[in-house]
Amino acid sequence: MASIVNKHYVFFFFSLLILHTFSTNVHSKTLDKNKPCKRFVLYYHDILFNGTNTANATSAAATNSTNLGNFNFGKIVVFDDPMTKDDHLLSPPVARAQGFYFYDMKDEFNAWFSYTLIFNSTEHKGTINIMGADMIAEETRDLSVVGGTGDFFMTRGIATFRGETIQGFSYFRLRMDIKLYECY
Ligand SMILES: *[C@@H]1O[C@H](CO)[C@@H](O)[C@H](O)[C@H]1NC(C)=O
Ligand SMILES: *[C@@H]1O[C@H](CO)[C@@H](O)[C@H](O)[C@H]1NC(C)=O
Ligand SMILES: *[C@@H]1O[C@H](CO)[C@@H](O)[C@H](O)[C@H]1NC(C)=O
Ligand SMILES: *[C@@H]1O[C@H](CO)[C@@H](O)[C@H](O)[C@H]1NC(C)=O
Repeated sequence: MASIVNKHYVFFFFSLLILHTFSTNVHSKTLDKNKPCKRFVLYYHDILFNGTNTANATSAAATNSTNLGNFNFGKIVVFDDPMTKDDHLLSPPVARAQGFYFYDMKDEFNAWFSYTLIFNSTEHKGTINIMGADMIAEETRDLSVVGGTGDFFMTRGIATFRGETIQGFSYFRLRMDIKLYECY
């Protein structure tokens, strides 16, 4: 009886040891937050369609807000927005941001974004996919870069948003600081 208990105990002990070695190996790749392998800052310009500004609008509400609270809960906006290198709306776009955001809090303005940055220039060709919560009241917020294609094959990282200007519901601009930690 004693030897069976011992055997089990020894087996259990070695299993733990193996598990520990395995998990430390998996996590041994440390990432330094301050050392992305690629980093760039781009500005996102969103001009909401208001029924008449067809030539100028880059986004449109696809659903109306619900009556749950006063903060547009449930409203979905689909966008195809220009991304520029500086904060001027009329600067030549270096990429498009295509995707959507929706408002998801009943007691304050809060959004959730999911979109693709599409690059098609001599400088970059490829896509970067970004998603996450945009807690509008925070000065900056981090969204996840969940993948990429082309020049950004299999990338991952963080996109830090900062609200730059909001003109009611007709125009807003976000500064996006994109830090990639996996580059192939
Ligand atoms: C829509 O936006 C355009 C351009 O900003 C403005 O001239 C127009 O008056 C707006 N229309 C409505 C219905 O608010
Ligand atoms: C959205 O709701 C507003 C306010 O109730 C209404 O004026 C507008 O027509 C609605 N828009 C759509 C597309 O249903
Ligand atoms: C990328 O740009 C080239 C040259 O302007 C154009 O021919 C091509 O259709 C574009 N591709 C996409 C996916 O937009
Ligand atoms: C387009 O929208 C921007 C942002 O609201 C505004 O500054 C600009 O005057 C608009 N242009 C036209 C032609 O409505």
